[in-house]
Amino acid sequence: MCGIIGYVGGGDALPVLMNGLATLEYRGYDSAGVSVLTGSARPELRVVKRAGKLAALEGALADVGLAGTVGLGHTRWATHGEPTDRNAHPHVDEDGDLAIVHNGIIENFVEIKEELVADGVEFLSETDTEVLAALVARHRREPADGAAPGTALVEALRAVMRRVDGQFAVALVDRREPDVLVAGRRGAPLVLGHADGASLLSSDVAGLIAHTRDVEALTDDQVAVLTAEGIAVTDLHGEPTSGQRFTVDWDIDAAEKQGYPHFMLKEIHEQPQAIADTLVGRLDGDGRIALDEVRFDAADIRTVDKVYIVACGTSYHAGLVAKHAIEHWAGVGVEVEIASEFRYRDPILTPHTLVVAISQSGETTDTIAAAAHARDQRAKVVAISNVVGSTLTREADAVIYTRAGPEIAVASTKAFTTQIVALGVLALFLAQERRTLFPEECRDQLARYEALPGHLESLLEVNGDQLAGLAERIADAAYVMFIGRHNGVPIAYEGALKLKEISYLHAEGFPAGEMKHGPIALIDEGGPVVAIATRGHVHGKVVSNIQEVRARGAEVIALATEGDTTVKAHADHVVYIPDVHELLTPVLTVVPLQVLAYHAAVHLGRDVDQPRNLAKTVTVE
Ligand code: AGP
Repeated sequence: MCGIIGYVGGGDALPVLMNGLATLEYRGYDSAGVSVLTGSARPELRVVKRAGKLAALEGALADVGLAGTVGLGHTRWATHGEPTDRNAHPHVDEDGDLAIVHNGIIENFVEIKEELVADGVEFLSETDTEVLAALVARHRREPADGAAPGTALVEALRAVMRRVDGQFAVALVDRREPDVLVAGRRGAPLVLGHADGASLLSSDVAGLIAHTRDVEALTDDQVAVLTAEGIAVTDLHGEPTSGQRFTVDWDIDAAEKQGYPHFMLKEIHEQPQAIADTLVGRLDGDGRIALDEVRFDAADIRTVDKVYIVACGTSYHAGLVAKHAIEHWAGVGVEVEIASEFRYRDPILTPHTLVVAISQSGETTDTIAAAAHARDQRAKVVAISNVVGSTLTREADAVIYTRAGPEIAVASTKAFTTQIVALGVLALFLAQERRTLFPEECRDQLARYEALPGHLESLLEVNGDQLAGLAERIADAAYVMFIGRHNGVPIAYEGALKLKEISYLHAEGFPAGEMKHGPIALIDEGGPVVAIATRGHVHGKVVSNIQEVRARGAEVIALATEGDTTVKAHADHVVYIPDVHELLTPVLTVVPLQVLAYHAAVHLGRDVDQPRNLAKTVTVE
């Protein structure tokens, strides 16, 4: 997820761009850049961009005068190409006539890049965005005699949008059409600002509020031409149309959260899109599962005789889910270890060992150290991370990126569900390379993952009030227990972690079968127990465990599969989950527990996004 800002009007563009980027920095902050048309007689296209936070760009601009009334800005969250000056946006075409900023993923950029390279185009960066710039340049023709100004660029953008696949929001500026900005979107947000004597564009309203509250949200396959006098919107064939026009009544803080009261709730609701983005482009041209980066011979996968997964906290719980998928599909033994313990127990590692290191930030010291130890022992390391170019990914032999966008809340939600999905892709890649599944079987399983965003959307639409009510019921409990079996165990652990880390309630997850070996002594009258009892080969066992705790006075909140009529006979409350393959259920069962923890923390007046004693990234041992 990246941040885009644009301005055309009577005022100085640069301060508008920089202030806009500052409000959009939560959308991405691994690099940033601006492009301004300077000069009036023969406008010059100036671009300044830097890796790092916005401060690095501000420093670079301190020595440069960029005076002009038309410009674009961008703050990046990398999905293709590491965060470097070269990969930062804006990108320009070969002749330096036009600049583009982009949020999203172009799925068919590789084939387009190959065509352009064959035409002699040379690229400086690894990004899909630079390919867009070159494609627009190739489509741009000098306007026909008598054509209205500002038509060549927009015609080129319409042609490009008819060609490319993927989800994107783009904006362009061209020194040959110095009075316009051109923008378009498909699947990624872009809002336009109608101001006095100026027009603006932004990834979301946070970038516009300082200048206008009269905004127009573009819808898919719409294109806009912005001038100081106003904004014209058309479809991809040039027919006039309009976006969704409304007046913003949010303040800046609410706008950065896009109207949600907390980043955590916003990120819970971003999960369908984050999962969809994480699954984009996971099949290569031959219909085979492909990872983002593989720096070892995939044939070595067939000699792997042991897999270790190392991670911390929520990422560790994602590893526990992955164990079942990898063992089931790839037929190789998996051990999941707490990273801070792994290297101190002197694990048996050989060149035939595969170590999977999971880290949202890619900067967790415990996980980086565990991965480094594994590589020292000549094991191969695969990193699963949400941050392109993070330390962990640079030191791995292969990488799969979750494309969840920045996760601001300390409590991890969308990173967790996208980690499970990315690990599912890894499990299918291992099965494909070890030939324990045919390629078409891998594609069939991948299709099941691709159906998850739809299931998640429907799940997020219901249960909200029920979960808020249940959260109030557990908010004064001395102790909340979470139980499950098989894939329900990591979700019991994760549900307990979510609740304890943001509401400060004492919560603990157990394998349901373990209750009779001690924990059941904790059960007293009215004590809340959350049971993951979805359809699967251990369903009956979990129902028995529910009866055991209920018989001792527990108040049971059960997660059950839609259509299940047995669980409700034994539970006080039932939250229903769409029916999906047993190995994929955790992506859905965790979400009501995220929402439950969120409402409990709100009810108790906690600092939901930044709970006490915790940091988003733990860079100490
Ligand atoms: C989860 O809600 C916590 N924020 C924490 O357990 C986190 O998952 C852990 O610190 C690992 O972080 P990482 O994924 O960035 O390595």
